[in-house]
Amino acid sequence: MEKLSEFTDEQMQQVDKLIEASGTNPSGLIPLLEKTQGILGYLPPSIQQYISEKTKISANRIYGVVTFYSYFTTKPRARHRVQLCLGTACYVKGSDALVEKIEKDFNITFGNSTEDGRFTFEKARCVGACGLAPVMLVDGKVYGKMTVESLDKILNEYE
Ligand code: FES
Repeated sequence: MEKLSEFTDEQMQQVDKLIEASGTNPSGLIPLLEKTQGILGYLPPSIQQYISEKTKISANRIYGVVTFYSYFTTKPRARHRVQLCLGTACYVKGSDALVEKIEKDFNITFGNSTEDGRFTFEKARCVGACGLAPVMLVDGKVYGKMTVESLDKILNEYE
């Protein structure tokens, strides 16, 4: 087991077990990454490299998977994950104004977390609730017909 400074020995032992069980078959890569993120919380470049070395799956391929699926994250997430849908229906109904408000109020750009570890803000593609546009998800819970006024009220519910 190799020590990666940001993770504990125990976490890395668990990751090693997952890698061992998954083997070198690329078809096991996505489940392996899902479980690894489940243990570590995120998949930084150091872990992608570590998995690449152990599985002999190219680092480029791993990076490609991690960046393709929005489920994966390369940075630690905050306590609450806020996703704003920027699909066509939501965009037409004004989701860009919500993005602007959040970026201004929290002094942050999307894809990042607030310094207090409270929120991670992410843009999402259509989440399949276009009839409720514009749509926001907080920890997977769907909020529809969002306005800049309702935004504050909803986010205040999450500490
Ligand atoms: S475009 Fe936002 S839910 Fe479909």
